[in-house]
Amino acid sequence: MTLERDLTDTERLARLDPDELRRLVGSIEYDAAHDPFPVSGWDAVEWVVGNATQAVHFYQSAFGMELVAYSGPTTGNSDHHSYVLRSGAVRFVISGAVDPDSQLADRHRLHGDGVVDIALQVPDVDACIRHARAQGATILDEPHDVTDEYGTVRLAAIATYGDTRHTLVDRSRYSGVYLPGYVERTSSFGGRGDTATRMFEALDHVVGNVELGRMDEWVDFYRRVMGFTNMAEFIGDDIATDYSALMSKVVCNGNHRVKFPLNEPALARKRSQIDEYLDFYRGPGAQHLALATRDILAAVDRMRDQGIEFLPTPDAYYEDPELRARIGAVRVPIEELKSRGVLVDRDEDGYLLQIFTKPVGDRPTVFFELIERHGSAGFGKGNFKALFEAIEREQAARGNF
Ligand SMILES: [Fe+2]
Repeated sequence: MTLERDLTDTERLARLDPDELRRLVGSIEYDAAHDPFPVSGWDAVEWVVGNATQAVHFYQSAFGMELVAYSGPTTGNSDHHSYVLRSGAVRFVISGAVDPDSQLADRHRLHGDGVVDIALQVPDVDACIRHARAQGATILDEPHDVTDEYGTVRLAAIATYGDTRHTLVDRSRYSGVYLPGYVERTSSFGGRGDTATRMFEALDHVVGNVELGRMDEWVDFYRRVMGFTNMAEFIGDDIATDYSALMSKVVCNGNHRVKFPLNEPALARKRSQIDEYLDFYRGPGAQHLALATRDILAAVDRMRDQGIEFLPTPDAYYEDPELRARIGAVRVPIEELKSRGVLVDRDEDGYLLQIFTKPVGDRPTVFFELIERHGSAGFGKGNFKALFEAIEREQAARGNF
């Protein structure tokens, strides 16, 4: 199976080809012939929020996403609103309860705003579920077809960490805007999401925070159940400050489009940001989503203009002679990075630029990363300490540290 045939519907719509994806997210060519659970790429990230009707405005105005589809009371679904947004190959579904008895209301009461489903496109839903079942995975939805006038989608779902699920989607026989049950919908907000104005092109990785001592179980889950491989490993001192620490391992699918760093808290003198997340989210869940951009400086400027707050980076980070020596030449003067708080990291393959937002909901849980890769397939290991110190200052200001 080649990457070309492997493109997801949103990658084609965003006019991303395999070369562009390699630059943006570090994808590789691979042979799926012996993959027990082939995954083509991301399908959608579904969020449950307290007010989907307003959140969908936020993702249009501040993130430059485009409203493309909708399901709700006017389309025969009286339980909840679901708005589908797109930027490049990134598709979000933002759902919120209409009916007070909706399961979504219960979920929101427990977890607050967060990611309920990290849906993946697969060429053969049934084969994946057969393998997952044989490996002891929890099957939440058995393989089934959903059909409308635009064709048929085959779906199934398996459980992952916490209350998070992976819906598996084969939309190769479907030409509708999202799924049966949704109608095409645009917004009077308008003018967003086109190539000229969009701020990010693709989803790079989604980080999961799991319980203390259970990271290796979840790494094993992705390897055994979903055929993922270990990509990188950071443990202990690599990402410890004087006060808090975490351990992190990264697993990815065969073509490296889908990357899941998994974090667990490590014992330290104070509560880590992972502990804070687990407390406020009431369990494991998606911690951050990294959005791949072609121009992180322009994206940061526009998002900040629209009211997005990023984590500040101490000036000392940029003035550190060790850092300057380590990162070498990057595409812009370091002052351009410093004025925006953009972090830089380098490894043997190249470098990357990255920045993190503050949590986007009311609880100190889920947030975003912008990432601009230049050859590096890493995750900013060299920045973890600088970043965590910045996060700890925020945690202290909230009184949770
Ligand atoms: Fe990240």
